[in-house]
Amino acid sequence: MTKITLRHITRELFHPCIKLSVADDQKKFVASNLYSLAQAKTNPLLHPFAIYGEEVIGRSIEAEDEMRGFVMYQLMEGVGFIMRLMVDQRFQGQGYGEAAMKEVLHRLQMNPETEFIATSVHKENPRTLEFYKRLGFTIFIKETDIEIYLKLDWER
Ligand SMILES: CC(C)(COP(=O)(O)OP(=O)(O)OC[C@H]1O[C@@H](n2cnc3c(N)ncnc32)[C@H](O)[C@@H]1OP(=O)(O)O)[C@@H](O)C(=O)NCCC(=O)NCCS
Repeated sequence: MTKITLRHITRELFHPCIKLSVADDQKKFVASNLYSLAQAKTNPLLHPFAIYGEEVIGRSIEAEDEMRGFVMYQLMEGVGFIMRLMVDQRFQGQGYGEAAMKEVLHRLQMNPETEFIATSVHKENPRTLEFYKRLGFTIFIKETDIEIYLKLDWER
């Protein structure tokens, strides 16, 4: 199984993070990392992380280490909500998204403040919907204009 490590977005990681991209036909599924980092700057309840591969586990990031993706969750009033998940188009389909989601779910489940875990997916993104269902999410709000809301089947 692919191993990852999550790193805080420091000043050094800002540019590598905003340079990550998804394919043109995926752009409507996820906000840009620049937008997400701007949101996180003004909202302390948001937790943005860079996704790196196992080669950097246990050491600091070096210039040649390539960031694989980005994930951001919000923890507010007992609800852990995974707001963003993206893997750079060069690295998709190699297990980084699944490993990052599992790590975020683990962190939220270990946090005593978390009572409920949820996420959402664009209604025209069935492949990611199936991916979330395999991780244990089920639909709890069928759809709004563009999103389907999912909750994790989990109890503290
Ligand atoms: C969805 C996404 C984060 C998955 O990350 P990944 O590293 O490519 O995925 P993994 O290799 O860990 O595979 C896990 C599952 O993700 C799904 N997946 C893989 N590549 C995908 C792609 N290009 N588009 C959509 N889903 C994909 C598949 O269901 C896959 O499982 P499978 O291989 O058994 O079918 C990534 O494809 C991505 O960034 N997509 C564009 C942005 C997006 O849709 N984000 C989700 C917002 S809700």
